Amino acid sequence: MSDVTLSTLQSLKQSGEKIAMLTCYDATFAHAASQAGVEVLLVGDSLGMVLQGHDSTLPVTVADMAYHVAAVKRGNQGALILVDLPFMAYATTEQCLHNCATLMQAGAHMVKLEGAGWLADPIRLLAERGIPACAHLGLTPQAVNILGGYKVQGRHEAQARQMRADAIALEQAGACMLLLECVPSSLAEEITQAVKIPVIGIGAGSATDGQVLVLHDMLGLALSGRSPKFVKNFMAGQDSIAAAFSAYVQAVKAVTFPAAEHGFSA
Ligand code: KIV
Repeated sequence: MSDVTLSTLQSLKQSGEKIAMLTCYDATFAHAASQAGVEVLLVGDSLGMVLQGHDSTLPVTVADMAYHVAAVKRGNQGALILVDLPFMAYATTEQCLHNCATLMQAGAHMVKLEGAGWLADPIRLLAERGIPACAHLGLTPQAVNILGGYKVQGRHEAQARQMRADAIALEQAGACMLLLECVPSSLAEEITQAVKIPVIGIGAGSATDGQVLVLHDMLGLALSGRSPKFVKNFMAGQDSIAAAFSAYVQAVKAVTFPAAEHGFSA
């Protein structure tokens, strides 16, 4: 696969071909996933839970993220590397710019920020400075304490209206991608149609422009032994991790994953 860029992702959206994204935290998995055709490797702050064993993503630092981005970069075979700005790393303009510089210099191609409409200011600033940004809307795990748990977002009409408006405002501010986590499938479909930038979903139904799963979840390695409803174990029936990655890419492209049972109703 030739190197994936923002233009590749934009063309995939325009052509209707779905984008396959997976979280990834090290060189070996980066090599295998990118070889299997995963277009975007997300160095997610979920590493705080799946690698470090915390019960949330809040303890993750910029130094942690930079370490894992650098490892992913060394194994990557042409995928686009997206990295999470961890909790409070973009609380002020200065912190945001400084921490983005650290992560881009470690090997990221794009940064991801969790929030809502208020992300327009930092995203506009980043776009002006040449740093592509993805806005993560819906269930934003860094805000788990204010959300009162890992719950579906956007089920009430006022919340849904706000999320649609935020998505459009963030595109106008210069966001290059949106990620929707745990939102009703119908709302995710409306947002995907309302914006020109690629929209990636997790627990957001099959109508988004692409899908992402946490690596450990899709390999059936959930620490608690219980996975969220939107997860499918792609290791089942496969004899290697490489085969599981290929099965995931094929299922995303063929739109056989996610199935209706993996989504949420309004
Ligand atoms: O940190 C992460 O892995 C994420 C995914 C859940 C989308 O943001």
